[in-house]
Amino acid sequence: MTIGSFVGYRARWVPAMLCLVWATGTCGPKEPALRPLTQGDGGASENVPPPPESTPPPAPKTLYDRLGGKDGVAQLVETFVQKLYADKRLNRVFAKLKKDTARETKFRELLAEQLCAETGGGCTYSGKEMKIAHKGLRITNAEWHAFIEKFTEVLVERKVEEDDQSEIFSMLGKMQKDVVLK
Ligand code: HEM
Repeated sequence: MTIGSFVGYRARWVPAMLCLVWATGTCGPKEPALRPLTQGDGGASENVPPPPESTPPPAPKTLYDRLGGKDGVAQLVETFVQKLYADKRLNRVFAKLKKDTARETKFRELLAEQLCAETGGGCTYSGKEMKIAHKGLRITNAEWHAFIEKFTEVLVERKVEEDDQSEIFSMLGKMQKDVVLK
């Protein structure tokens, strides 16, 4: 090989090798690593990892739930009125009512509805205001206390937590002024 032909050969060979190195990616500007294809617009926001799956915390139980919901409150009222009707101290006020099936059924329904409304059960009380409902009954303080005593017995029998009992009695206590001697 002459010097001239060697120089000519090198002039063709060197650029050819450079092209090969470039094409195989062993040199030249580095591309960012490919990420797997996902649905979406391919924008920068897709690089943010999705928030971890989270279930919302359960809604706190209402007092109504803790009393056993619809069935629990219906049973509670049922036991309560049987106690009211059986108590001699309350015979004066309940004697007539307990013999009148339609009125008595309505009374139990309204008691349950009111309890539901007052304890977060979502009911709307549709009965009379306490002042109106007890007007003319001339309920004494002694009768009031007998009524509350019967209610306490039911709550204790049904193992209602003391905090919940206090909440219920504070609620009933607010109505005393509208019930007694009206
Ligand atoms: C905070 C305590 C009390 C509550 C929440 C309560 C609730 C009720 C409710 C919801 C009614 C039905 C109202 C209507 O007819 O629209 C009612 C009626 C009645 N309540 Fe009370 N009550 C309470 C205290 C008392 C007490 C202490 C007595 C007697 C000792 C009593 C005796 C009666 C009677 C006899 C009726 C029936 C009236 C009728 O239908 O002619 N209540 N009460």
